Amino acid sequence: MELYFDKRHGKIVEIIAEEADKLQMETYIIGGYVRDIFLRRASKDIDVVCVGSGIRLAQSVAGQLGTQAALSVFKNFGTAQVKYKGTEIEFVGARKESYNRNSRKPIVENGTLEDDLKRRDFTINTLAIHINKENFGELIDPFNGLQDMNDLLIRTPLDPDITFCDDPLRMFRAIRFASLLGFSIYPETFEAIRRNKNRIEIISKERIADELNKIILSPCPSVGFELLDKTGLLEITLPELAALKGVETKEGVGHKDNFSHTMKVLDNLAQTSDKLWLRWAALFHDIGKPRSKRFDPKTGWTFHTHEYIGMKMLKEIFRRMKFPLGDKLKYVEKLILLHMRPIALSDDEITDSAIRRLLFEAGSDIDDLMLLCEADITSKNPGKVRQFLANFKLVRSKLKEIEEKDRIRNFQPPVDGLQIMNMFNLPPGKIVGELKSAVKDAILDGIVPNEYKAVYDFLVEKAGEKGLEVVSRDPQNTATV
Ligand code: CTP
Repeated sequence: MELYFDKRHGKIVEIIAEEADKLQMETYIIGGYVRDIFLRRASKDIDVVCVGSGIRLAQSVAGQLGTQAALSVFKNFGTAQVKYKGTEIEFVGARKESYNRNSRKPIVENGTLEDDLKRRDFTINTLAIHINKENFGELIDPFNGLQDMNDLLIRTPLDPDITFCDDPLRMFRAIRFASLLGFSIYPETFEAIRRNKNRIEIISKERIADELNKIILSPCPSVGFELLDKTGLLEITLPELAALKGVETKEGVGHKDNFSHTMKVLDNLAQTSDKLWLRWAALFHDIGKPRSKRFDPKTGWTFHTHEYIGMKMLKEIFRRMKFPLGDKLKYVEKLILLHMRPIALSDDEITDSAIRRLLFEAGSDIDDLMLLCEADITSKNPGKVRQFLANFKLVRSKLKEIEEKDRIRNFQPPVDGLQIMNMFNLPPGKIVGELKSAVKDAILDGIVPNEYKAVYDFLVEKAGEKGLEVVSRDPQNTATV
């Protein structure tokens, strides 16, 4: 079989091959790079395995590539990396590895190509291409990885209990590849994940989060999360999501299964946005439901304030999963808290004031919020769906109209607290806060326009009601009053 490398990489591979021949080292391109040639996916990292010293080969290749090549040597691991014009090339000598049960640190010994291949995660990642001159392009496939690729199967090359015990993160990798590539997990491999699921405890949260991010960014992310659920990994990693499962019935009335609803919302959103944290917001938007669930014999099941409860649950999850706690947490919290607002708006009359308040609270995330709300429509009743979408269309056009008119998004009132203190010679305190809120509410309710002069006059009047008089005509502001 003849194999072709990506044009950008052809030259690099040629140089690696020449250096390998000079050093008389049996050398192969291996792993994800070979897999992606067959799956016609672009790949920027090349993994090279040689029978001998990977570091020695990397040094010769870097020397040959010239000054644009950056070499890093990791003596302790016996590996080296060459970065060249945006491509990362990893070099390693073929090895046997076995792992200690309680740590991921492998015990490494030199080995043959076959030893190296069989210690890898899945058959689709065990393909190797020989690049020495006499066998250039020969495909080595001892575990039938090509067949599994054709059959769209994720399967371990060894007994799956051994593969997953060696590195439990591979259980997440199996699900990530299934979700990302649209493959199925081979039944024995799947059963082994279920059996070994508790071994995931020895893996760092950062590495798990990395896999979860890749799963959530796949084209149809519910595939990955359903698999996480079926293998039991979801219950261990994100129990708040697993708690969404199930339908309770009282007096003959059931509620919808919030987990399948969430899966639909996530897939809907994946159709309209690739934003990582917006996808997380979709996944978490209803996590407050189990804790807010009540049954009222008159109205049936309710989930009042689930958006608030869900928002409050988020920090603990982010902390546990080692997700970023700054802006990203705030963003997801905001979207969860506000996700019912546009729906509530479309139920009754869409007033300018309600739209202004929504714009004010959502700020620059208003467009993402609307995408989330549209994805949240999962009703099976076509009439209802049509009605919701029509209402959202109206909300969107109102949002545009009000935004153009009042510039509320990320708005700051034209007079701030310091100016209020100067105007009425006030010390910092409650009254300044009250006047500031009165200004904000008046603007959002459309009582005064979002302009300096109008706000100034409004303040004079409001302060007057409290017995305050203007002492300084706002020296902070240079605008003409
Ligand atoms: N590998 C493994 N077990 C792991 C991680 C990696 O056996 N836990 C092996 C696989 O053969 C994999 C190769 O090391 O193909 C390179 O790993 P990596 O670059 O992490 O994965 P890729 O398969 O290249 O895919 P991606 O870059 O998308 O993670």
